[in-house]
Amino acid sequence: MPTGFQQISREEDEDVKQEARPGVTSTLVLSVFTAVLGSLQCGYNIGVINAPQKIIEQHYNATWLARHNSSIDLSTLTTLWSLSVAIFSIGGMAASFLVGVVSEWLGRKRAIIVSNALAFLGGALMGLAKLGCSYEMIILGRFLIGAYSGLVSGLVPMYVGEISPTHLRGALGTLHQLALVIGILVAQVLGLEALLGTGQLWPLLLGLTVAPSALQLLLFPFCPESPRYLYIVRNREAKARESLRRLTGQPEVGEALAEMKEEKRRMDMERKVSLAQLLRCRVYRQPLLVAVVLQLSQQLSGINAIFYYSTSIFESAGLEQPVFATIGAGAVNAAFTVVSLFLVERAGRRTLHLVGLGGMMGCAVTMTVALLYLERVPAMSYVSMVAIFGFVAFFEVGPGPIPWFIVAELFSQGPRPAAIAVAGACNWTCNFIVGMAFQSLADVCGPYVFLIFAALLLAFFLFTYFKVPETRGRTFDQIAAGFRRTPSLLDHEVKPSTELEYLGQDNP
Ligand SMILES: *[C@@H]1O[C@H](CO)[C@@H](O)[C@H](O)[C@H]1NC(C)=O
Repeated sequence: MPTGFQQISREEDEDVKQEARPGVTSTLVLSVFTAVLGSLQCGYNIGVINAPQKIIEQHYNATWLARHNSSIDLSTLTTLWSLSVAIFSIGGMAASFLVGVVSEWLGRKRAIIVSNALAFLGGALMGLAKLGCSYEMIILGRFLIGAYSGLVSGLVPMYVGEISPTHLRGALGTLHQLALVIGILVAQVLGLEALLGTGQLWPLLLGLTVAPSALQLLLFPFCPESPRYLYIVRNREAKARESLRRLTGQPEVGEALAEMKEEKRRMDMERKVSLAQLLRCRVYRQPLLVAVVLQLSQQLSGINAIFYYSTSIFESAGLEQPVFATIGAGAVNAAFTVVSLFLVERAGRRTLHLVGLGGMMGCAVTMTVALLYLERVPAMSYVSMVAIFGFVAFFEVGPGPIPWFIVAELFSQGPRPAAIAVAGACNWTCNFIVGMAFQSLADVCGPYVFLIFAALLLAFFLFTYFKVPETRGRTFDQIAAGFRRTPSLLDHEVKPSTELEYLGQDNP
């Protein structure tokens, strides 16, 4: 799940101003609400294909039957379904690379507005797929909605972070993640057979994703563009002033403007590091390895196997109402997202990540044991349910939020955008691999499928234990110095301003 972008710029801003706190205005509330409708939709599409899997597979089967005059064989069906689930991540990956360009070119607000075209197109394709007797329409629709989600999960935290006053930035930033998990939960509830998860209504369930888009388009004209964008990127001081006045409700905004001037100055001081430079330069090699492996630990933990396939997992675990267990997992996820928001501010990142990975590993092993003894002990189906709830809870404690935190903390302003792009690409790629491979793996391995994740989790646990530094409360210089203690690296000081001098020195 591509969550956690929002916390990235949070901590380093906390030392800025304490006095002159503007209150929460209705414009600010409206703007944040309007923006996170995008996050809600992103979550909705992560959760929506879980409950109605069986019903939509019947549609695939019927479509195949009508075209080929024979019913679909199981492996083709599994492949088509896995593709429909996982192609979402391909769209997300492609689009996550465009976030930077689009947000500079169109502005934050207009970029979100324009992305909705993808949501409408994707929603329409999926909603009309039954009428059109087509599974290609669902696959294409999932791709487009994935692209939308990739854009939104970068743009919304950016917009929300930039319109929030400094002292509220952290709190408002978490709303993106909250809206996302609420979106997953809403999708799981609406997917109930009593609601929209039926043979007749599933097109509505998939097409409903256009509703938040429509509401967002209706409300956005009343929201101001980000003042930081107007001033720092576009250099339009008068417009930035006007936007700040609306957001703060105060006629005098000189102080906020001064703060942005300072930010612009700081940004100009440190030059941007390009993707190629990031990959070539040896100083970044160790932190980049840590950043990438942590992203892998998030996705290859198997969490999206739960979010995409939990209903079918619960069904094979012998639960009579698997959909309710899926909703339970969604509720646990939402609850622990809130818990983690508090934990992350207080405990060390490394500790939380280790606890999360260890806990998930324990739950995965429990899950396997429960499935193995299912025949003999029927109560084991409940043990497996609790194990999955625990799996989700531990995920939100560590591997959910921490990897994004650490990426942002390992790199200073200059290389950070490139590092986040690399991390994002790895994240979406692994998301795709898990979405694509899980159902086939589960068919082949049976109960042992969770042992694969347990083994991966063990590997990530060991990596984190030996290689990941604690980043909480340390500056970039201190963290960089920690990495340089390993012998292969340069042995003199690297300050952010001199990082560029090292670039290109070592061509592999
Ligand atoms: C496809 O539908 C046919 C006829 O309804 C059924 O016999 C067959 O088992 C179905 N195949 C799969 C893989 O579900």
